[in-house]
Amino acid sequence: DVSLQSLAEHYGTPLYVYSQRTLEEHFKKLSSSLSELDHLICFAMKANSNQAVLRLFSNLGGGFDTVSDGEIMRVKAAGGDPAKCVFAGVGKRREEIRYALEQGIYCFNVESEAELQRIHEVATEMSKQAPVAIRVNPNVDAHTHAKITTGTYENKFGVAFEKIEALYAHAAGLSGIEIRGVQMHIGSQLTEVEPFRAAVQKVAPLVEKLKNTYSSIQFFSIGGGLGIVYDPALESGQESWWDSEEGRKILTPKTYAETLVPLLKPLGLRVLLEPGRFLAGNAGALISRVEYVKNTGQKNFVIVDAAMNDLIRPAFYDSYHQIVPVQEDKNLPAIASDVVGPICESGDTFCKERAIQKLEEGDYVAMLSAGAYGFVMAGNYNTRPMAAEVLVNGDKAAVVRKRQTIEQIWAGESVPEWME
Ligand code: LLP
Repeated sequence: DVSLQSLAEHYGTPLYVYSQRTLEEHFKKLSSSLSELDHLICFAMKANSNQAVLRLFSNLGGGFDTVSDGEIMRVKAAGGDPAKCVFAGVGKRREEIRYALEQGIYCFNVESEAELQRIHEVATEMSKQAPVAIRVNPNVDAHTHAKITTGTYENKFGVAFEKIEALYAHAAGLSGIEIRGVQMHIGSQLTEVEPFRAAVQKVAPLVEKLKNTYSSIQFFSIGGGLGIVYDPALESGQESWWDSEEGRKILTPKTYAETLVPLLKPLGLRVLLEPGRFLAGNAGALISRVEYVKNTGQKNFVIVDAAMNDLIRPAFYDSYHQIVPVQEDKNLPAIASDVVGPICESGDTFCKERAIQKLEEGDYVAMLSAGAYGFVMAGNYNTRPMAAEVLVNGDKAAVVRKRQTIEQIWAGESVPEWME
């Protein structure tokens, strides 16, 4: 119920806008599809770590999948509970482990034997026991983009399926370690259920065995990875594909739950999920202003004021984001256009030769499905300030992050004294 045009005019562009209702609906949809299980949704906050977004999920009862001490601090700053945080990542530093233990996080997701040893040492120094889950690499291909697949032996993540039992036995002998769970995550933006089914089916018997051996095991985390619709044209042509599960091609929470709950329920354990993109992706758009339209004779370039530093996904993964004019005018012709940013790199391109309503200087466009891995991957390349972020709720809108000022970009820099 808020006009994006007025938000863009009022707050300037590039502007990230998030919908509270969509964030809530996605959380509730996923949670209710898993109602048969004792479950905890730990939002993979790397996808969108704005304080307002974190507070929202925390208020809904969610926990967080964190990957740094900074993320745990963010959860605390947003009023979230560290006791509902898991801490993942292959490179945890000693100080980070110490901090996480001080905060009383729910679990460390351990990615190697060396890390397990380090966590044991730090916990012992602190006279504590660290709760851990070891991340199983099930060696299942997630059929997703090479840069975001994680569950095969080609990847740096987790411990090989064949070596897991021995590592659990080793962990059981470490006084600084409490075995609390088993974890896996096979990749991101999965659009089919099959890789999830294959991975859970492969790992569930192992979890059953470990549960019977180590009575302290409380949970099985199946990670994140639920994909979202980036290009509705790939869906079944339905106008309102987001409202119904009917005829949808992409994996939905319903299919996910119907497939996985029967495999998970017999374990009798708590199930953890770590969705990032599914909760936040379709809840955000990046609004940008058209600066110039440049027709070269060969091509039509629409030059906008957002760039790859604001939304890197198209440049980095060749990913598709739907781009729509903020004010649609059905009388205007569609023109095959390249929507590009102002950065001096050819890769600063949001789409190529895509049919888009004829645009003019001063028009606004919205890049959709930018709520996950959008703002969080932004940078200051070309001394461009970080965009502002706005959250809307019904007819209300609030700035949840101010636009960075230009001076803030170099605030931490200095010139050495010998040059003064
Ligand atoms: N759990 C673990 C251990 C992960 O590594 C990730 C994502 C997630 C959960 C959340 O995955 P999701 O539910 O969001 O698919 N920047 C890339 C995505 C990188 C994903 C990294 N790990 C992109 O823009 O597509």
